[in-house]
Amino acid sequence: MKTLANVFREALKEKGIESFGVLSKRFRKSKSKLQDVAVEIITGKGAIFRVPEKTAVAWDLNGNRVEGSHYAYAPLCMMEKFEPVLMPEELRSKLPGWPYFIIDLYHWNKHTQKEKGKVCLQVSQSYGLLRDYFTGRELAVTWANDEFGRMFKGPIDRITPYAGPTAEFLRENDIDEVVLLDPWAEEVLSEKDFDVGAFIIGGIVDTGGNKKKTTPKIGEELEKAGIKVRRRKIVLRGDVIGVPDRINRILGIILKMMVEGKSMDEAVYEFQEPLHARWRLRKELPKRAIRYRVNGKTYRVVEKELFDEYSRWLKIRWEDFVKVLRELDLIALERKRIHRLNKLSSPRIINGKLYRVILLKKAAMLCYNC
Ligand SMILES: C[S@@+](CC[C@H](N)C(=O)[O-])C[C@H]1O[C@@H](n2cnc3c(N)ncnc32)[C@H](O)[C@@H]1O
Repeated sequence: MKTLANVFREALKEKGIESFGVLSKRFRKSKSKLQDVAVEIITGKGAIFRVPEKTAVAWDLNGNRVEGSHYAYAPLCMMEKFEPVLMPEELRSKLPGWPYFIIDLYHWNKHTQKEKGKVCLQVSQSYGLLRDYFTGRELAVTWANDEFGRMFKGPIDRITPYAGPTAEFLRENDIDEVVLLDPWAEEVLSEKDFDVGAFIIGGIVDTGGNKKKTTPKIGEELEKAGIKVRRRKIVLRGDVIGVPDRINRILGIILKMMVEGKSMDEAVYEFQEPLHARWRLRKELPKRAIRYRVNGKTYRVVEKELFDEYSRWLKIRWEDFVKVLRELDLIALERKRIHRLNKLSSPRIINGKLYRVILLKKAAMLCYNC
């Protein structure tokens, strides 16, 4: 999917412009000059002008520094002075019609004040993500009441807040089918879902654990109002555990997949934090544990080398691995030592579970060998 930077690049190319500069120090630190300048033009702050003297600083259409340009981004008030070559209306007319990414605040009143603050912060961070690819206006916040307006510290004039119900917003925008991001869904989000007019993320922060299964309710409300809802989940290797559940991270995962063509697992990895990775590790490690019974005592052992295996798809550091081992009361041993233990032990089923039993004498030998 095209980004705003792509649209801007094409618009400049069409006019035979190969580079552009700025007349001030703005944008010099920006990581994506094309994207950042294009956002300013789209929001009506400035335009591209032909300037009589080359600018001191300029970039080519890949964002690389070049020696100066006869085209410059400048505020619209420069209209009197310079000839405009790309105005906001023209760039706006070229936008491809990106979908809306709606943060649905239907459950706003179920939150504590602290949680409401977190919702607002995550909405702000979501705006930041969208303006890196599109314009930021694609971020709609529905059921946005006065309290949200007061608490939101982000650029409210650059997003699309909507005080009414989500279904009403959709109808006003001629959207009759949406994707609802829902961890409880049966189906996994896929490329085939990228054709809808809107993606809906629950504006829910779950610190108290009292909002279980609130996302499907958003879908039910929409369906009641006649909207077709595709409920889709995001998974990591087939499981929602380990997928970060913050609103902005869910949005980030969708954007990585949609715009950058990343696989779901790659996108999840990029937005994962060790906290989420540990959730998953807690589920994975017990599956790999071998039970040893030594002198009537049980030891659950996993291979130390599993750390390398898991760190390829979970964002864990060695300390996370050790933390989870401790929590689960597991012992990590090198593979070769496990092989030695296996040779000394014999399998036995105790209470329906497989154990490897080591006799006392052999255990002593093992300790000696260790
Ligand atoms: C913190 S979650 C809230 C989940 C809520 N407690 C529930 O049980 O339905 C915030 C939002 O992120 C999205 N989300 C979180 N994890 C997801 C996943 N694995 N797949 C799809 N969407 C997810 C959903 O839109 C959800 O409403």
